Amino acid sequence: MDSILVKGNGELRGQIPIAGAKNACLALMPATLLSDEPLTLTNAPRLSDIRTMTQLLQSLGAEVASLQGGQVLALSSHALTDHRADYDIVRKMRASILVLGPMLARDGHAVVSLPGGCAIGARPVDLHLKALEAMGAELDLRDGYIHAKAPAGGLKGARVVFPLVSVGATENALMAATLAKGTTVLENAAREPEIVDLARCLRRMGARIEGEGSSTITIEGVDRLGGATHPVVTDRIELGTYMLAPAICGGEVELLGGRIELVGAFCEKLDAAGISVEETERGLRVARRNGRVKAVDVMTEPFPGFPTDLQAQMMALLCTAEGTSVLEERIFENRFMHAPELTRMGARIEVHGGTATVTGVEKLRGAPVMATDLRASVSLILAGLAAEGETIVSRVYHLDRGYERVEEKLSACGAQIRRIPG
Ligand code: EPZ
Repeated sequence: MDSILVKGNGELRGQIPIAGAKNACLALMPATLLSDEPLTLTNAPRLSDIRTMTQLLQSLGAEVASLQGGQVLALSSHALTDHRADYDIVRKMRASILVLGPMLARDGHAVVSLPGGCAIGARPVDLHLKALEAMGAELDLRDGYIHAKAPAGGLKGARVVFPLVSVGATENALMAATLAKGTTVLENAAREPEIVDLARCLRRMGARIEGEGSSTITIEGVDRLGGATHPVVTDRIELGTYMLAPAICGGEVELLGGRIELVGAFCEKLDAAGISVEETERGLRVARRNGRVKAVDVMTEPFPGFPTDLQAQMMALLCTAEGTSVLEERIFENRFMHAPELTRMGARIEVHGGTATVTGVEKLRGAPVMATDLRASVSLILAGLAAEGETIVSRVYHLDRGYERVEEKLSACGAQIRRIPG
């Protein structure tokens, strides 16, 4: 297992290109199952999760070609040869559950492993299942699998009211509804930019969708969908992550492709902490205003609130802020596993349930630390960028799921960072 060695090396200066969004691409790829015509995704990120989704789709009989070094994905699924998503793939990547809605909508049946939990929480899929049942699906849960069947005439349009906001359940229901008979209304739907991107792609394929980005999405089912070419939206979580690099180290970095509307609530917190963000022709320029970062309180919420996927990275910034910050994690039940690792670096953090209280210290000190999940891994790298001495982050396979070429992108701005093959 590889590790990454980071050595605090002063201010960062330069430019970092932001890739296409992992969490958009993982929803866009299963959309190929809805049509027998080609779907081409451009600006695709080069990540291990994308390779895992590729393997899953290929195991169902879809063709997926990775072109231009992985930045273009050419997908097509004339006829599926299998309708079973096995546990060994689904447990590695929970987004695999997103093949369920499309397979049910297109062919009327599917067998998909229940994903099981992960490091940050139990991650149930009950809301996905309730939405599909509302559209007439019969679901039988046995031996760890969801055995799903659509009614003889196919899925039917329905009114689905989500009791809590779920990105994945919204995506599964949205894709299934495009081919259902009649009208589907999704209420309390997720509003994330990745949902908007999926709706735009489906519309290019011929779907009839209104309201994406708001809490109510209305879909008129159609008989079939065609092909499309669609650019994957910029990754707002990678964007926010790298915005924190100059915030933590000082200096000034331009994030190429960054757009302020993708990170509104996050920028408000950066501003309160004393970090300047300005729009440029090519993206966003971030710099730390003079003096020490100020403590701020953070509460994670569904979009457009502060993203849970940036909570760990924000905590790394607040470890050396002036004052005490309170971070409330309201989306997942166990998403503070980076805290004990940051504490090894000298941070002062007290975790009680879903709340972490961070008392800022002048400087962190490098130490060997362990990545536990995707976003925790990158928060440890951010902390190491400004710490005194060396930090070795182990188990970086977590990191490779969601960030392409981290060492390259940060080294280009002056960071001392390299991968140690393990
Ligand atoms: C997506 O996960 C993202 N993953 C996550 O990013 C992100 O943290 C999350 O949305 C929230 O923004 C992908 O898009 C592949 P949810 P998802 O359904 O869809 C509960 C990363 O780091 N819930 O919005 O699984 C759930 O337990 C990953 O890139 C149910 O109770 O998240 C959680 O508490 C991590 N029942 C809350 O809802 C359900 O059926 C939000 O989960 C579904 C979810």
